[in-house]
Amino acid sequence: MKRECDRRTFLRTAAAGAGLAAIGTTAHAGAAPASPISPAAPIETVRIGFVGIGKRGTSLIRTLLNLDGIEIRAVCDIKEDRVALAQQTIEQAGRPKPEGYSQGDTDFKRLCARDDLDVVMNAAPWDWHVPICVAAMEAGKHAATEVPAAVTVDGCWQLVETAEKTGLYCVMLENCCYFRNVLMVLNMVRQGLLGELLHCEAGYQHYRIANNVFDAEGNLLWCGEHEARRDGNLYPTHPVGPCGQWLNINRGDQFDYLVSMSGKSRGLNLYAAEHFGADHPLATRKYALGDINTTLIRTVNGCTITLYHDTQAPRPYDLIYRVQGTQGIYMDNMEKIYVEGRSQPHQWDPVADYVAEFDHPLWKALETKAIGHGHGGADFLTLYRLIKTLREGTLPDSDVYDAAAWSVISELSERSVADKSRPQDFPDFTRGGWKTMEPLGIVQA
Ligand SMILES: NC(=O)c1ccc[n+]([C@@H]2O[C@H](COP(=O)([O-])OP(=O)(O)OC[C@H]3O[C@@H](n4cnc5c(N)ncnc54)[C@H](O)[C@@H]3O)[C@@H](O)[C@H]2O)c1
Repeated sequence: MKRECDRRTFLRTAAAGAGLAAIGTTAHAGAAPASPISPAAPIETVRIGFVGIGKRGTSLIRTLLNLDGIEIRAVCDIKEDRVALAQQTIEQAGRPKPEGYSQGDTDFKRLCARDDLDVVMNAAPWDWHVPICVAAMEAGKHAATEVPAAVTVDGCWQLVETAEKTGLYCVMLENCCYFRNVLMVLNMVRQGLLGELLHCEAGYQHYRIANNVFDAEGNLLWCGEHEARRDGNLYPTHPVGPCGQWLNINRGDQFDYLVSMSGKSRGLNLYAAEHFGADHPLATRKYALGDINTTLIRTVNGCTITLYHDTQAPRPYDLIYRVQGTQGIYMDNMEKIYVEGRSQPHQWDPVADYVAEFDHPLWKALETKAIGHGHGGADFLTLYRLIKTLREGTLPDSDVYDAAAWSVISELSERSVADKSRPQDFPDFTRGGWKTMEPLGIVQA
């Protein structure tokens, strides 16, 4: 009841304060700290229901089939052919055929109601992540969701409250946290190589209009519908997840507030004109999303983060990943590092010189199994770690508070953009729990 009141207070304040900065933390100042999520009982064989079998879901299912201790018992998609393809893939891997669900938009509820599942994973479009995770947890299953976990402040609170109420995990499958370079930096940071952290910079900089925004026939896809009506950082978790783990967000520090600014929107109109003709409705309509969005975050402990969302202007893929502390700076996109007292003064070192010493133990142990899976093998590590924590009854590497804090940037940035970049306070989803939560350790395989 207390938590529901807190959320209502937050929402009321947010609604009343649209255009003002006074939302979030202040409204929760007097609330009791959230009880940290407790480790769940160990599960010998993790029984999975999978919802949303498009491009991403297909790839995740293939990776899951390479893990020990799992069974995929049920699969769901609104398209029957996607369900059939998943069933075929699973059978071809020598596993029993899972039950299929394809009777419409909310058929995932029937899947969630089964009594033989431990976790429901989803790679559905963004608007479905919260309803699927909530249905899973309400039905007594852990939830694992693709990114972002939610696209609204309210959706983030729904996930937090349902996880707290049910005591189940709600994990966002943020695979960038398992990139080899990202985990190496975590190892460097934990060993104090860069000193006390001051600043991170990262971006989702991925020109991805074809097959994500428009299909080849000139239709707007679900992601395009978001870009047509929303302006802000719509896809923040790939860049911010790693920064959040390096900076101990929710585990000793907390996002405090952000400001966000978008420039003009040109890329979608230009792309549509070139591919579908200058008079095509997709070429002549308006799109809300600015081609380049820049968001600045300040943490309670005084660290800063610059985030970019840049998906509509032609460019090579680059997530940046700059991490700077009192003793040095790591620049992923330059593949350079400078460490005071170790590097020559004012001279960059190649990152390669540090790999032998700082490569993460997970990568050292799992490299041969991981390589060949999506995102340079990071998808394998993402699912491996989730399944391992479920099988061992330990806490996952990121929890519902991380999913909420990283995802809520979407709506907060939209609010800031819509209000001349005025600051937006982050809700404290942990209600003070961040002050006592232990930082992530360096786990072994
Ligand atoms: N972590 C990563 O690196 C990564 C990469 C790509 C996509 N993603 C995420 O994965 C998700 C899916 O992206 P995608 O590119 O595969 O999209 P997609 O459109 O290819 O696939 C989505 C699938 O969900 C199905 N679907 C839609 N509504 C549904 C419902 N109500 N119930 C069941 N199924 C439903 C669709 O029929 C489709 O098969 C998104 O959240 C996206 O952000 C993550």
